[in-house]
Amino acid sequence: MRGITVLSCGIAVPDKVVTNDDLAVRLDTSDEWIAERTGIRERRIGGTTSGLAIEAGRQALDRAGLAPTDIDLVVLATTTPDALVPATSATVQAGLGIPGGAFDVNAACSGFMFGLITSAGLIATGADRVLLVGCDTLSRIVDWDDRSLAVLVGDGAGAVVLEAVDGPGDLLSWNTGTDGTLRHLLKCDHGGFLSMDGKEVFRKAVRVVVESAERALADAGMTVADVDAFVPHQANLRIIQAACQRLGIPEERTSVVIDRYGNTSSASIPLALDHAVASGLVHRGDRLLLSGFGGGMTWASAVLRWGA
Ligand code: ACO
Repeated sequence: MRGITVLSCGIAVPDKVVTNDDLAVRLDTSDEWIAERTGIRERRIGGTTSGLAIEAGRQALDRAGLAPTDIDLVVLATTTPDALVPATSATVQAGLGIPGGAFDVNAACSGFMFGLITSAGLIATGADRVLLVGCDTLSRIVDWDDRSLAVLVGDGAGAVVLEAVDGPGDLLSWNTGTDGTLRHLLKCDHGGFLSMDGKEVFRKAVRVVVESAERALADAGMTVADVDAFVPHQANLRIIQAACQRLGIPEERTSVVIDRYGNTSSASIPLALDHAVASGLVHRGDRLLLSGFGGGMTWASAVLRWGA
């Protein structure tokens, strides 16, 4: 039996900071509305998906003390590829000089979670080290005149290096879900802009996060009392707070970065993970509950022991 352990994480965000007040100059909105309804205060905008993914991947490799040649697979979770063909992971692979295979995963904002679970399966069946990156540049598919979505999104990337270990490893449980009958709630057609039924997504999001998180805990033989840190998808602070309340997880054990990055889709969980490690919320051996949801609708949760 081969399990996974996480060796390191890394992040990359564009230099350009766009505050709520900056948006209020050109949109009928305000810092007060955005902060109160979403928890977002600023976001980073710019760059390309491949460029940010390469930067985050390089930092994760450096922190693990590994060379690109030590990696045998690149998995890139993204909803905003540079192009339809080739897969953006090919650009990341070439940019980093990784010799192995590379492919993209698209499960909207749950992409990093689906990528984590897929990577664990690849490691179980023979891969030794996987570079998993979650990266999105949602700013490229948002109508900047549409205040309902423009205020929510940000660009960024987060990466982890996963390594094979003998035995069950550190991914203690996982589950995924998709309900394609809800695909109209959040969508973007080819060449179009992102559109969303925000209220309905909000309602469904809280329910699926709580249900899948509870299932992941039960499958790991744990209760919320055993969770050292909660690392949820960052779409709206009120969704995170509602999930924490229903799960019974104190907010001080929850990693929150939405205030400075907005909703970065596939990047939000690894950005929150990196913050949790850097801020001292997470230590080696801690058990983390990760949970994401997004367009599709998709959702996924996992319990991960922190090995780095
Ligand atoms: N600034 C000021 N007013 C606004 C803005 C804005 N940016 N956007 C909407 N409003 C107005 C609306 O027009 C409405 O006005 P009305 O009462 O006169 O009709 C009022 O504010 C209230 O709007 P609601 O939509 O009811 O606000 P709500 O509290 O539901 O918050 C939000 C909206 C933030 C979008 C929330 O529903 C949400 O976060 N939903 C979930 C989003 C999510 O999780 N998405 C998942 C993935 S997103 C992705 O992948 C990009």
